Amino acid sequence: MKVSIIGYGEMAKAILLGMKNSGWNMQEVEVVGRDENKLKKLANEIGCKYNLIDGYDISKKVVILAIKPYALQEVSMRIKGEAEVLISILAGKPLIELQKYIKAKSYIRAMPNIAAKYGASTTAITGDIEAKEIAFEILSKIGDVIWLNSDDEIDMATAIIGSGPAFLAIIAEAISDGGVYIGLKREVANKLTQGLFKSFAALKEEFPEIKNKVMSPKGTTAEGIYELEKEGVRGKIIKGVVKTYEKSKKI
Ligand SMILES: NC(=O)c1ccc[n+]([C@@H]2O[C@H](COP(=O)([O-])OP(=O)(O)OC[C@H]3O[C@@H](n4cnc5c(N)ncnc54)[C@H](OP(=O)(O)O)[C@@H]3O)[C@@H](O)[C@H]2O)c1
Repeated sequence: MKVSIIGYGEMAKAILLGMKNSGWNMQEVEVVGRDENKLKKLANEIGCKYNLIDGYDISKKVVILAIKPYALQEVSMRIKGEAEVLISILAGKPLIELQKYIKAKSYIRAMPNIAAKYGASTTAITGDIEAKEIAFEILSKIGDVIWLNSDDEIDMATAIIGSGPAFLAIIAEAISDGGVYIGLKREVANKLTQGLFKSFAALKEEFPEIKNKVMSPKGTTAEGIYELEKEGVRGKIIKGVVKTYEKSKKI
């Protein structure tokens, strides 16, 4: 199967690394973009082929679109042909818009995240049922894949899966800052915070019961939880998710 990825940014690189690490034959993969130096650098790093975007023929290929959402129209004018399958990871670009700009036999919209490079993305997808199998085959190389039933659900998933790593990064930084505030050296606070997230990942199946297992009557955790709730942390996080979803409707 010939796979082309249009774009060589953070996500394109993460997907390519995930595919490579899964044992995918990278000689069958081509990275496509407008800057030859950037293309060459990434293709060398990954061990795949590369091609400039102007006049690029997407026919008979599975194309992963990994450019900025605002560049969709411009990119569509630079390529030709009809892809076998188009898999777009663009935030906020519904299937109907993809169909308007890029020709393909079938379409998939996917929302992965940056952990794709470790094979640890969770990728939400939707689209044409006939492309479901091929999309699962490729995207399962970068982590778990979850089929959703509409564009709107992908926009909602964007607020959790796509943007979520940045939200958790803020929480991680704040926890480490708290550690420094009470007297830990920064490197110790960071190391403990990294350890915390590793522990949390191991507990994921116990979610949402984790808090209740840690918070005991009159305990230290209860004291911290009371303060966080008093400050409205939960409401702020919910609002962050809502605003992200709303923004994805305006791209
Ligand atoms: N970052 C994430 O965590 C994440 C998660 C899920 C989905 N996404 C989606 O993934 C897509 C890529 O995000 P990213 O984080 O990888 O962005 P990025 O690192 O900024 O890379 C953007 C890519 O788009 C290309 N591009 C921009 N304008 C172009 C144009 N007019 N013609 C051709 N190529 C153009 C850039 O090429 P140049 O360098 O030549 O400009 C670059 O290859 C976005 O649509 C985003 O919504 C991102």
